[in-house]
Amino acid sequence: MITHRPRRNRKSQVIRDLVQENTLSVNDFIFPLFLIDGKNKTSEVKSMPGIFRLSTDLMLKEIEQCMKLGIKTFDIFPSLDDKYKDKKATESTNKKGLYLRTLSEIKEKFPEATIMTDVAMDPYSSDGHDGYVEKGEIVNDKTLEILARMAVAQAECGADIIGPSDMMDGRVGYIREALDDHGFTNVSIMSYTAKYASGFYGPFRDALDSAPRFGDKKTYQMNPANSKEALREGELDMIEGADFLMVKPAMSYLDIIKLLNDNFNLPIAAYNVSGEYAMVKAAAAKGWIDGDRVRDEILMSIKRAGASVILTYFAKEWAIQQSKRK
Ligand code: PBG
Repeated sequence: MITHRPRRNRKSQVIRDLVQENTLSVNDFIFPLFLIDGKNKTSEVKSMPGIFRLSTDLMLKEIEQCMKLGIKTFDIFPSLDDKYKDKKATESTNKKGLYLRTLSEIKEKFPEATIMTDVAMDPYSSDGHDGYVEKGEIVNDKTLEILARMAVAQAECGADIIGPSDMMDGRVGYIREALDDHGFTNVSIMSYTAKYASGFYGPFRDALDSAPRFGDKKTYQMNPANSKEALREGELDMIEGADFLMVKPAMSYLDIIKLLNDNFNLPIAAYNVSGEYAMVKAAAAKGWIDGDRVRDEILMSIKRAGASVILTYFAKEWAIQQSKRK
């Protein structure tokens, strides 16, 4: 006789619901948004169907809509014209510039929205790199000063969570100190702790026109073959004062999410990146997979691996479907 029959716990929807170990909710999501200059302007990212670059006025409307759906946290990325880019990312601290001006407007209009910002030089850099370039090299310590100024300027415009995505050494501690020195002890840091040099960022770089103008990002982003290195990065970020540790990309790095979650007493975030979104949309458009079902399965797998926060382009469509299910 078979005593152990795991199928008993799968025999009906009610039982399945009772024994379900993980759930997803809009509270888990951060919705990334792409910002462009202009008025009443919107353009779909070709490689990301359903995702639009929005001018400030339309972004305000988008945030309002998303808040009604229960999405409360937004990560905002600017797409800038080449004329605003230089070697030192000067535009990144311009309060009258597109990005900082928009942050202030959002916080003014929706003080209850939680705003995450990106700290890295690439959208503002004529080199298209996350750090300061000298003789073809990405110079770590000079970059830190620029990043810290950027972070403080963003905090001054109301940012709630600073997201350093640059992978320079020592940046979390450096930014923490700069924020504290300026009185922003309550502004959080979600560190891109284990950010891999990944092909999955392709559609994002199209969206922002932010691809490196020479070389690649392998001297600062991590080698996809490594996991011990993620532990080292996690230790440093924790010591330096990060409030969240992020893993990026998510789907191909579920083991890294689990590794960090098992080893650190900090909330783990995962960035379900542009290429992961694009793959699902492309296969679904061809009728090769059920896109909604695969989306939900991917998001659940990220949660199950140990991420309590998921940055995902699927946030809004998930929330819309959830509101219809109710
Ligand atoms: C750059 C940055 C990237 C992403 C977020 N911040 C791309 C890169 O490192 O080239 C990728 C996000 C995505 O692909 O969705 N600082």
